[in-house]
Amino acid sequence: MNPSVFSFPNKIVFGNGTINTLSEQLSAFSLRKILLVTDEGIREAGLTDEVTKRLESAQIDYAVFDGVHGNPIEADVLDGAEIFQKEGCDFVIGMGGGSPMDVAKLICLKVTHELPLETYSNLHGGSEKITSNLPSMLAIPTTAGTGSEVGRGAVVTLKSVNRKTLVFSPHLLPKVVIADPKLTVGLPRKLTAATGMDALTHNIESYLSTVYHPICDAIALGGIRLVAQNLHRAVENGGDLEARGGMMIAAMMGAIAFQKELGVAHSLAHPLSTVAGLHHGLANAIVLPYTMKFNREAAPNRLRDVATSFDVNVNGLSLEEAAQLAIHQVTQLCEDIGIPARLREVNVTEEMIPALAKAAMEDACHLTNPRPCTEQDMIDLYRQAI
Ligand SMILES: [Fe+2]
Repeated sequence: MNPSVFSFPNKIVFGNGTINTLSEQLSAFSLRKILLVTDEGIREAGLTDEVTKRLESAQIDYAVFDGVHGNPIEADVLDGAEIFQKEGCDFVIGMGGGSPMDVAKLICLKVTHELPLETYSNLHGGSEKITSNLPSMLAIPTTAGTGSEVGRGAVVTLKSVNRKTLVFSPHLLPKVVIADPKLTVGLPRKLTAATGMDALTHNIESYLSTVYHPICDAIALGGIRLVAQNLHRAVENGGDLEARGGMMIAAMMGAIAFQKELGVAHSLAHPLSTVAGLHHGLANAIVLPYTMKFNREAAPNRLRDVATSFDVNVNGLSLEEAAQLAIHQVTQLCEDIGIPARLREVNVTEEMIPALAKAAMEDACHLTNPRPCTEQDMIDLYRQAI
């Protein structure tokens, strides 16, 4: 057996009202001024006030950058880094969904690493060029999906290639996470559904991935179970704090699990954002059942375990029948929470497929898919899902 390296993440302060511990968490750092990185939607929803009012009462100096796009672009990082430097900041808080948290991570990188962002891309062996010399970061998720708060990666669309690019380094990991389910209660129904499906996709794809990591496997199955128990509830009743908390943990479990990488659903989803402008979670949600069918023969045991995590009784069933039940459960969940069944319902057209398939092949996620993928497979999967 090849040697394996297992690493686990950061300090997570979880629970309703844990935002009240903000100044206590910050007191562990000697800091001068904070850059709060977020997006307009979070600010307009009043969520940044939850941070700024506590910083003010603790007399901690701060500046705000709220210009992060829904699908973050390189300019977001450069703009934020400029404010960080102009304001003399030395600490970053990333608040919001995956986009502000990823941009916050990359601002930390950019202010101490001078080469163009592209140089640090995972595709070009960029991880090796990232040193520990980064300002510290605290993450405050306001969605339950990406799990970026416990992840070492950040995804951004690079201007030069117009492609979602992963920057990966253990040094990008936020030092502390405040995971307060109360901050997610105002998340609209559609976003709750889409982000929750991103969490489910992380858990399922990492469980099916070909990388050896039995610790993450157990976490992924636990994450699937939490999504099965809580996502529909959270969509139906946004104020259900128990369901919101379950989803917040499921999202973090998904992101911890995908240390063992992902699969073809994410390779199909990334171009759906860059080419067709879809929300990342929604793109994953629509393609996920089709990718599970695609993987049915390559990973029937694993799909049976997914069915079991949905609390389905698979006793007496053949492997194939049990795997089919897993696909059925995911399809049913999508329907229950209002995810469109087809890409055409979200304005993806047949004409886009060649460009989508080409970009999907260039995306690295499918390299650990249990069934190897060709460009024709990508075309077929998009056709099935359209
Ligand atoms: Fe994702």
